Amino acid sequence: MLGSIVASATALETIDERMLRCGISRRSFLVFCSTLMIAAPYGLAITDKRTPEDVAAGLGKVTRPPIIWLHFQDCTGCTESLLQTSHPDFGDLILNVIYLEYHETLMAGSGLQARQALDEAVQKHVGKFVLVVEGSIPTKDQGIYMKLAGRPALDVLADMHLAPRGDSQDMHDSNPPATFGYVARELGRRGLGFLFAREYFGPDRLGPQLKKQFGGVYIANEKYTLAQANQVIEGGEADAVAFGRLFIANPDLPARFTSNASLNAPAPSTFFTSGAHGYTDYPALSV
Ligand SMILES: Cc1cc2nc3c(=O)[nH]c(=O)nc-3n(C[C@H](O)[C@H](O)[C@H](O)COP(=O)(O)O)c2cc1C
Repeated sequence: MLGSIVASATALETIDERMLRCGISRRSFLVFCSTLMIAAPYGLAITDKRTPEDVAAGLGKVTRPPIIWLHFQDCTGCTESLLQTSHPDFGDLILNVIYLEYHETLMAGSGLQARQALDEAVQKHVGKFVLVVEGSIPTKDQGIYMKLAGRPALDVLADMHLAPRGDSQDMHDSNPPATFGYVARELGRRGLGFLFAREYFGPDRLGPQLKKQFGGVYIANEKYTLAQANQVIEGGEADAVAFGRLFIANPDLPARFTSNASLNAPAPSTFFTSGAHGYTDYPALSV
C-alpha cells in the first residue's frame, strides 16, 4: 500500500491526512487494517484491537516516527547500510516511512548549524523521538577520549531521558520491565551520570526496579506533587524528583514548597510560544 502513496509525506502529517491527500479510499484503508490484524504477531498493540475500525482509528492518527541519529566512535557502516536499503528504498524510507530529523552525515549543515538543528529536533519531539546511536562510546577517564563539540560523548548521552510507560503517541512495549530493565542495567554499566525517568507516580511504576538495576543516581519525574516526591525520596525509590511544568508556572517553586503555599496552574498553550507571556509573567508569591 505504501507504494501507491506517491506524494512525499509532509513533516508531521498523520496517516489519515496523508491517505486523504493521496486519494486512498476509506474502504482500501480498512482492508489494509484487516490484513494487518491478521498478519501481526501476537503481543503487538494491534492484536488487542477488536475490529479493523479500531485499528484504523489508532493507526490513522500516527505520524512518522521522528529519528535522531547520533554518531559516536564508528566507521559509518550502519549509515552505509542505511543508504543501501531496499524495500523501501532510502528515498521512500526517509520521505514516507520515518522522519529523519537529524543525521549529521547525511545532512548538509555542520558546525554550529548542526548543533542548533540537534537542539531544535530534541525540543520539537521531546519524549517522542527514537534515538539511534551509531558506534561505541569510550568510557575510560570520564569519556575524554571521544568528544563532540568539546563534550565527552558520555555527557551527550547523559542528557537522555527514559519514558518507561511508553505512553507517547502510539508507542507500546509488550514487556516494559524487561526492556527498560535492560536499558537501565546497560546504562549503569556504562557509568552514566544519572538516569532520569518520565514516569508519573502510580502503583505500576517501574522506578524502584529501574533505580536498583541502574545502580546510580535516579531522578523521578512527571506530574509529581510535593507529597509524592517526598514519599519516593524518603522510601529510597529515587535520589531526586524533577519538576518541569510546575517550575515554569512557579519560578519560586522551592519557596512555595517550603511554605506550603498554593501553586499557580501551568498554562500549556504558552509552553512552546515565543515572547514573555507564559515565561516571565506568572505571579510570584506575595511577601
Ligand atoms: C515546555 C517544555 C519543554 C520540555 N523540553 C524538554 C527537553 O528539551 N528534553 C526533555 O527530555 N524533556 C523536556 N520536557 C519534558 C520535561 O522534562 C518533563 O519530563 C515533563 O514535563 C514531565 O514533568 P512535569 O510533569 O514535572 O512537567 C519539556 C517539557 C515542557 C513542558
